[in-house]
Amino acid sequence: MLTKTKIQSKLKQILPKKNVLTTIEECYVYSQDGTNGVESKVLPDVVVFPETIEEIQQIMSFANKHKIPVIARGAGTNLVGACIPVRGGIILNFTKMDKILEINKTNMTARVQAGVVIGQLQDKVSESGLFFPPDPSNLRVSTIGGAIAQSAGGPKTFKYGTTKDYILGLKVVLANGQLMEVGVNTIKNATGYHLEQLFIGSEGTLGIVVEATLKLIPKPETTRVIMAYFDDVDSATNSVVKMIDANLYPSTIDFMNKNTIETVEKFYKIGLNTSKEAALIIEIDGFESSMDTQINRLKDVLETSQASDIVISYSQEEQDKLWTARRASFGATAKLSPDVVTNDMIVPRENISKLVNGINDICEKYSLKVCIVGHIGDGNIHPQIALDLNNPTEASNYEKAKSEFYKLTLKLNGVLSAEHGIGLEKKAFLSDSVSPLALEYMKKMKNVFDPNNILNPDKIF
Ligand code: LAC
Ligand code: ZN
Repeated sequence: MLTKTKIQSKLKQILPKKNVLTTIEECYVYSQDGTNGVESKVLPDVVVFPETIEEIQQIMSFANKHKIPVIARGAGTNLVGACIPVRGGIILNFTKMDKILEINKTNMTARVQAGVVIGQLQDKVSESGLFFPPDPSNLRVSTIGGAIAQSAGGPKTFKYGTTKDYILGLKVVLANGQLMEVGVNTIKNATGYHLEQLFIGSEGTLGIVVEATLKLIPKPETTRVIMAYFDDVDSATNSVVKMIDANLYPSTIDFMNKNTIETVEKFYKIGLNTSKEAALIIEIDGFESSMDTQINRLKDVLETSQASDIVISYSQEEQDKLWTARRASFGATAKLSPDVVTNDMIVPRENISKLVNGINDICEKYSLKVCIVGHIGDGNIHPQIALDLNNPTEASNYEKAKSEFYKLTLKLNGVLSAEHGIGLEKKAFLSDSVSPLALEYMKKMKNVFDPNNILNPDKIF
């Protein structure tokens, strides 16, 4: 293994010096990511900001030769410790590879560098009347490379699916520095194995995704957001089934429990009804002329589901305010205690009531302050827990609660992660969720792509 100084000086030969960070303070910043409660005392040896694919190829072939760990990083907003450099090594920061290379209206595709910020991509494609639906809730900072790495989903999954449904092709720098193109530029492809899908959710452990060809769809002409409040949680969750029975197809069916409504309102003062036990944020989209029909049908369903207050946001400004508040619910929860942790279990939609109630009971049992939000239409929830991780009782209660969350999820036919990934945070539980043979083949796959185990080592497995 080379010394830190040797690694740093070689990287200064590959990249312009301004794109290489080496001081302790700079490296410290990149020893963490958006995850609370997963601490690493190890600093990366160096942080680099590549600007070209060729630089990344050179870095990889150097790293592979000397068996130096390489951790790709977008905005570092992931919640499972996926960017933490547990063995030191090189952080590949994609901030400077943030270009939208092409938007093709006729093909409805975009070609982008991995560091493109998703919110900026959405804004840009919308100028061409197009839409890229998947977004991690923090879309103003998170990047497409990160979304691919973690298989991000987000609020619009109910109607539009997740990141995996919008990746047509990828350029990937392999562990040995070779550049591999996988996938296609076309909307269909039955030409061999879908290797591009293998990289989605692989958390930087199989290759470095440097460029992506994305599928886009026509941008819906208009949207409305309907806030439906309920006096009990079951009525809220059961209304999802009734929406499906009524053939409604909202783009989003998101959930907030009472604690979340109160906490968000406390810090964002947008006029939420804090007297209620639960709320659904339902977004509908489509042609302007269809809005009244959709709203009326939805109102019928919500009323028969015992919704006790229904508020419709017509203006874009009002809708944006609501979404900003929902997106900020993790930040708002963070203000209640020194730390905040979250999770992203998912169960088949038919079991969502059992999951929400079960999570609530577990949190009560362990005296945990929980703000539950989630993409309830998908069966996916986020128990956001405000706590003090330095308080041994609270920390150990959380650990116990977490393993009960997972047991319950598996009992309800679900999986540990819907859209955040495994990283360091959930790897101890992976074998509970993936069959032994599938796990064996995942590990074989890792070995094929990265025989020296330099790509984001110690993650997932
Ligand atoms: C959310 C992210 C954290 O939905 O998944 O808020
Ligand atoms: Zn989410």
